[in-house]
Amino acid sequence: MQHKKLKDFPKNFFWGASTSAYQVEGAWDKDGKGPSVIDMAPVVPGTTDFKVTSDHYHHYKEDVKLFAELGLKAYRFSIAWTRIFPHGTGEINPLGVAFYNNLINELKAHNIEPIVTIYHFDLPYALQQKGGWSNRDTVDAFAFYCETLFELYGDRVKYWLTINEQNMMILHGDAIGTKSVTAENPEKDLYQQNHHMLLAQAKAMKACHEILPHAKIGPAPNISAIYPASSKPEDVLAASNCSAIRNWLYLDMAVYGRYNNIAWAFLEERNATPDIQEGDMEIMASAKPDFIAFNYYSTQTVAASSGDASDRGSTGDQQIVVGEIGVYKGASNPNLSKNDFGWEIDPVGFRNTLREIYERYALPLIVTENGLGAFDKVEADGSIQDDYRINYLQAHIDQIQLALTDGVDVFGFCPWSAIDLVSTHQGCSKRYGFIHVNRDEFDLKDMKRSKKKSFFWYNALIAKNGAK
Ligand code: BG6
Repeated sequence: MQHKKLKDFPKNFFWGASTSAYQVEGAWDKDGKGPSVIDMAPVVPGTTDFKVTSDHYHHYKEDVKLFAELGLKAYRFSIAWTRIFPHGTGEINPLGVAFYNNLINELKAHNIEPIVTIYHFDLPYALQQKGGWSNRDTVDAFAFYCETLFELYGDRVKYWLTINEQNMMILHGDAIGTKSVTAENPEKDLYQQNHHMLLAQAKAMKACHEILPHAKIGPAPNISAIYPASSKPEDVLAASNCSAIRNWLYLDMAVYGRYNNIAWAFLEERNATPDIQEGDMEIMASAKPDFIAFNYYSTQTVAASSGDASDRGSTGDQQIVVGEIGVYKGASNPNLSKNDFGWEIDPVGFRNTLREIYERYALPLIVTENGLGAFDKVEADGSIQDDYRINYLQAHIDQIQLALTDGVDVFGFCPWSAIDLVSTHQGCSKRYGFIHVNRDEFDLKDMKRSKKKSFFWYNALIAKNGAK
């Protein structure tokens, strides 16, 4: 649709930016914090670990001041479960509680709306040792953790996100470093974990509404429109399969409280349907999100399955299709360029994705991640000329405006990332931030913060509420 006149961004649009605890905070074992699965996972050779990252834990005041200078209206960050409950459950850690109290207060003092992700990949290791998400007790541990957060911070935090990219943990857990399944039926175990997370999310949404009637809560999967590699009907069917398994399984459950039929058929075929206990589906059906948060980096393109192991790709990266034997296989899209890490760049696909989600669920949308990972270069004068990042973000923001004009209700955009941090599996040389952190992969240097060119660009854009 070619619009003659574009709608303006809404007046109170949340121009924000995002981070996650384990990727930005550092202080991995400070002040009583317990280890998470990420802390205990092997480090990808050639990349830094997550022990210090950007040391936001010690720099949070300076960082929030910079976020305010950037003009952020909202800041999306996650709480490290292991700071609050070092062992996942049991004794609360007052110093961990204090850190987030301070951070939230600092944000409020600068008029920045806190948007809190409850869980972003960093399951307490103590729970993992008892089976992690395969163990149903983790559902209750999560529900208790959520209730604790609502009680602790609900007087100041209005927007809550349940679980970051549950779908990526299931489909790309190897790359992210979160996957742990039993040997005898790994797929069933994986989807049992998935069921437990969906149930945990439902309990979190219900508890949020009970404890904090004025708060809003939603899921935060990674959603992308899926293209067929050609107009061959078999390729179109493959795209529909992929979309069901990658996207709608998660949102259909969050919004409607039911398993997507195509995804369920896929699980049946593989003998991987989860065990569902009595009452689970009632809980799922009665839990309702207030909005949908989603992360978007790229679209995916798939082709009809060849029916053998060649359907499985090799990289396993979150934005590169792995493929499912007999269901679909990854294909590259000749119409799109790629970033330095092989992720396809597709701003128009972003509009498609926004439209598809809104048409399906008719809930307000907030984009909680979008951005460009790149090897930034510090010039001799100390500046960072990240025009490639500006171009990427501007192109995606343009598409939000088109989607708004299409009638999609979008209330915020929080690009990844507010400040440089450590990538899930590609180190800290893959940078995303508006704010540069002076450290290298293995040399922590002085951690000095400096503003990239994109910082000034985003600041100006926010000041004009996205108008050109
Ligand atoms: C998302 C995650 O998958 O993408 C973030 O929610 C992550 O945690 C981001 O950092 C970018 O991916 P990566 O692999 O480059 O860090």
